[in-house]
Amino acid sequence: MSLIGITGASGKLGSAIVKHLLTLVPPSSIVACARDTSKLTSLSSQGVDVRKTDFSDPSTLGSAFKGLDKLVIVSVDKFGDEATKLHKAAIEAAKSSGVKTIYYTSQVSASPTSAVAFGTQHAATEADLESSGVAFVSLRNGFYLSSLEHMVGGAKHNGEIVTPQDGKVAWTSPADLAIANAIIIASTDSFPKFVYLTASSSYDMSDIAAILTEAWDKPVKHVVVSPEAYKERMVGHGVPAMFVDFFVGAYKAMENGEFAKVDPKLEELLGRKPQTVEEWFEASKGAPAH
Ligand SMILES: NC(=O)c1ccc[n+]([C@@H]2O[C@H](COP(=O)([O-])OP(=O)(O)OC[C@H]3O[C@@H](n4cnc5c(N)ncnc54)[C@H](OP(=O)(O)O)[C@@H]3O)[C@@H](O)[C@H]2O)c1
Repeated sequence: MSLIGITGASGKLGSAIVKHLLTLVPPSSIVACARDTSKLTSLSSQGVDVRKTDFSDPSTLGSAFKGLDKLVIVSVDKFGDEATKLHKAAIEAAKSSGVKTIYYTSQVSASPTSAVAFGTQHAATEADLESSGVAFVSLRNGFYLSSLEHMVGGAKHNGEIVTPQDGKVAWTSPADLAIANAIIIASTDSFPKFVYLTASSSYDMSDIAAILTEAWDKPVKHVVVSPEAYKERMVGHGVPAMFVDFFVGAYKAMENGEFAKVDPKLEELLGRKPQTVEEWFEASKGAPAH
């Protein structure tokens, strides 16, 4: 039986992966790692080994990864070079500790030429995985439906989704991704280096406006403005410049079709249709706007 370690086990995706892993393998074959192990007491009480790991402190990594056959590196919530350096520290420690296979939570937009910061960032980590020589599976997860909810939340107040560009996105439920990630990680089958996990259909912002009109029972329209007008609007709303650039990049990537890919693998692994945008907003009906 493989010993599976997972970093970021106290985060939303990491904890959901562990929750599903516990339905697939015994607790004694899971090592849950987090920066603050006091957040993992419910796992240790179930028999999961809990270890401290902080990628910014490599001294925590060697002992934490010792004896692991598989290591899941949950991507950090940081941007640019900082994220790449943190992931590289984890990859190097995994290699020195003799980990046989690394699973990395990437994104569908991963590419050195991506228009969005996280796309190039994930591609840089995938390149580091490749050059490490350790076997790996990059879980190219679809764009989170929870991100869409944040991006369009303001429309609940003003009835407008304002964007500088538009394009199709296969918006994907993080809960479905956690289940599929866990199935792949626990499996004894071999997987390709890059596995795309996306919802079964893609939508542009005009489609989303129509869905929200229905879900919220109020008119929502999609308005396209120039990138300059969009930036001005965001800055006017008090959004920090770094995040404005991030969103401009994300919409450019949307226009380029970087999130449009629809792949049947997620549906195949779940054994059912992945959650749709309509179902997501139906489930969050009545929730306050962000
Ligand atoms: N596919 C998409 O569309 C999409 C959308 C949003 C985010 N993401 C990515 O998916 C990741 C997980 O999402 P989430 O919803 O679970 O976010 P989250 O709850 O904010 O989790 C952030 C994760 O980053 C980890 N982390 C931060 N700094 C770290 C460090 N120095 N060393 C080790 N781990 C560190 C945290 O680990 P601890 O448990 O140790 O605190 C935690 O698991 C995000 O971090 C981001 O990279 C993807």
